[in-house]
Amino acid sequence: MPATSVIGLQWGDEAKGKVVDLLAEKHDVVIRYQGGNNAGHTVRFGGNTYKLSLLPTGVLQSHVQSVIGPGVVINPEAILKELDSLIAGGIDCAERLMISDRAHVICPWHLLEETAFEKQRGNKAIGTTMRGIGTCYREKVGRFHAIRMGDLINKDRFVDKVREIVPFKQMILNALDPDSEQLIADQIIEDYSASADRLRPMVTDTTAWLLNALENDRRLLFEGAQGSLLDVDHGTFPYVTSSNSSGCGIHSGSGIPERAIGTMIGVAKAYTTRVGGGPFPTEQDNHIGEQIRNAGHEFGTVTGRARRCGWFDAVATRYSARISGVDSIAVALLDVLSGLGDLQVCEAYQINGKVTRDLPSCPDALQAAKPVMRSVPGWGEDITGVRNFHDLPTNAQQYVQTISELVERPVQLLSVGPDRDQTIVMLTLPGF
Ligand code: IMP
Repeated sequence: MPATSVIGLQWGDEAKGKVVDLLAEKHDVVIRYQGGNNAGHTVRFGGNTYKLSLLPTGVLQSHVQSVIGPGVVINPEAILKELDSLIAGGIDCAERLMISDRAHVICPWHLLEETAFEKQRGNKAIGTTMRGIGTCYREKVGRFHAIRMGDLINKDRFVDKVREIVPFKQMILNALDPDSEQLIADQIIEDYSASADRLRPMVTDTTAWLLNALENDRRLLFEGAQGSLLDVDHGTFPYVTSSNSSGCGIHSGSGIPERAIGTMIGVAKAYTTRVGGGPFPTEQDNHIGEQIRNAGHEFGTVTGRARRCGWFDAVATRYSARISGVDSIAVALLDVLSGLGDLQVCEAYQINGKVTRDLPSCPDALQAAKPVMRSVPGWGEDITGVRNFHDLPTNAQQYVQTISELVERPVQLLSVGPDRDQTIVMLTLPGF
């Protein structure tokens, strides 16, 4: 049974959570494979809003087994908080959650180091979520002083590691910032051991389990976090996250081979947003951006930061769709554009006098890129109640067709509001 995957095609926050939630109904297993609690997924149904960060969206459906793969970095306290808030809301999913023993653990020094590094960067700060994500991944790649979930649940091994790491980290923190907080090994051991006791039953070799599930024809759904343009290898480096958030991360982050994926769905907003620093050619730092931000409630799920807003960038989105081999796109938040007047879509960049449809690899070139815009007439009608493509205003239909043409992918799904049913299914591909 070929697996399905959902990834973001922009700089994150594309409403992947809603698409995964819709697809989860027809799948047995939902897998998170990269990132950590820097992600924010909002799902709304039955009059309730659920905000997820580290947990796979599948936890909301009682028939789904949720898996957190080896490529994810885990803050034990954060995951337990999230589980507890779901339990308080009547969703007890701990029994349906598996966490890879290969996944790495975010420790207090990762958060402190990240704060110190961002401060050092000054006006070149990435604008991270300050969750210790990048510093934890750095330790993993450095293969020194890294702690995995398998170590966390082994009390003796964990204690030895913390006692070895803390003095070393304190030295670095003091050098970076003489006022840095002091790490207390005993306290860390006590706090993390309490979390480990609760997490132990969920920690297992998820790779072996997933490979068996695949061979037993279980329907797997891979849930990407962040967006492809934040991918550490293929995104707008250095203003990126520290994992492979494009489709390229699925195999390394889960242990499931590439050829197991049957359908790859890319999610894009009908406009573009970005949180944190970095180039953003179609940004509208003006009343249009403000209007989009207010209509789309564009404030970070994790940090509450106001998101930067701008027009749809077909150059960047097409690049993302191509690197991940996306079969189709889901266009979200189309309703936000109602009443905005005529709309613009970026179809090419002009860089140093040359017109290109390729995303430049150099941040300075992307910063210098002038978007070549195509104007598309807007619409004034409220479209949140529309459930059929042909019932949309003609200009809205034309707008969606323009996106599809420029990204060179069919549109599979349109979202016209946050609720599950505020969805227009245009194409039924395998997995849906
Ligand atoms: P980090 O992932 O916390 O290291 O942050 C690196 C960059 O990725 C920053 O610009 C963040 O704002 C951005 N980022 C990380 N996670 C998300 C997300 O889920 N949505 C949007 N931006 C994100």
